[in-house]
Amino acid sequence: MPDLQTKYLGLTMQSPIVVSASPLSESLDNIREMEQAGAGAVVLFSLFEEQIELEEMGHKEYYQTHLDALPEELRDIATMAEFKLGASDYIAHLYRAKKAASIPIIASLNGYYSGGWVRYAKLLEVAGADAIELNTYYLANDRHTSGAEVEQMYLQLVQDVKSEVKIPVAVKISPFFTAMTHMAHELARAGADALVLFNRFYQPDFDIETETVAPTLSLSAPEELRLRLRWTALLYGHLNSELAITGGVYTHEDVVKCIMAGSQTVMMTSALYKHGIQHIRNTLNGLEQWLEDHGYKSLDDVRGRLCVYSGTNAAAFERANYMKVLKSY
Ligand SMILES: Cc1cc2nc3c(=O)[nH]c(=O)nc-3n(C[C@H](O)[C@H](O)[C@H](O)COP(=O)(O)O)c2cc1C
Repeated sequence: MPDLQTKYLGLTMQSPIVVSASPLSESLDNIREMEQAGAGAVVLFSLFEEQIELEEMGHKEYYQTHLDALPEELRDIATMAEFKLGASDYIAHLYRAKKAASIPIIASLNGYYSGGWVRYAKLLEVAGADAIELNTYYLANDRHTSGAEVEQMYLQLVQDVKSEVKIPVAVKISPFFTAMTHMAHELARAGADALVLFNRFYQPDFDIETETVAPTLSLSAPEELRLRLRWTALLYGHLNSELAITGGVYTHEDVVKCIMAGSQTVMMTSALYKHGIQHIRNTLNGLEQWLEDHGYKSLDDVRGRLCVYSGTNAAAFERANYMKVLKSY
């Protein structure tokens, strides 16, 4: 049987499928089931910068009835039932998750602007996190803030989190950078041990009857994978950090594509919401069979086979492909 063992962030994993951050990991039973179904690792749901800051202000109950006493950016989350778990509850959950399963548990810190909250990275390490995934989710909507400043803000955040911990740090980024390759290299230079491609931005819909903005979370569509494949294939082979794909992975064929692009691990969330946690096992069975049918002994034999990097001019290659695609419809 082909070998599915995978190394990611210096951790040895039983398979390349990592369960990405979502409320599925709020349940220890789910985490155990993920391990039994063959997951290589689990990324816990995120602990948000704002949750930490709220906790740091102290007396959470007081602020629920005295919102004016809080800085404006914390008022909304102070009353959200979804964030009843505070930062210390998150750390306790991480500790319990580590006890419940023996696969690596990756804690997820979600923020954009470095500050005192970053020291919680150390607490996650102490609680047993095998690595940290830093999700940089920020909608740049200030006309005085330039793209370069936003990039600098992220790089500073990565450097600061890295300086707090010894465990590896992966950085989950959005696809919305004008010069992705440059930014990816800068993140690697700031210390990112892996880049997780890509964050999805959840776009609220408009309800035209009630004339309100409706928060809408749709699960991903399989087509979303292509953007990830492109950038992984473009970055693989010349970046000083590993790559992991999240977004649009549903089948074992998708996993093969990700590995061929150069992804170290392949992440799943929406597929598990749709088909259940046992879908990990089905996907791994399909992957094993595919590798065997094609004569591959391990994932390393497949990794990067469809990456673009080969010393050629990637921009010219992309341009040529773009022209070909438009003519091929
Ligand atoms: C219900 C739900 C909750 C999520 N919560 C988080 C989160 O807390 N932190 C995070 O980094 N990503 C979160 N995500 C994003 C997923 O980790 C993943 O990156 C995204 O769904 C794309 O992968 P998929 O196509 O396999 O779903 C969430 C996704 C869903 C569907």
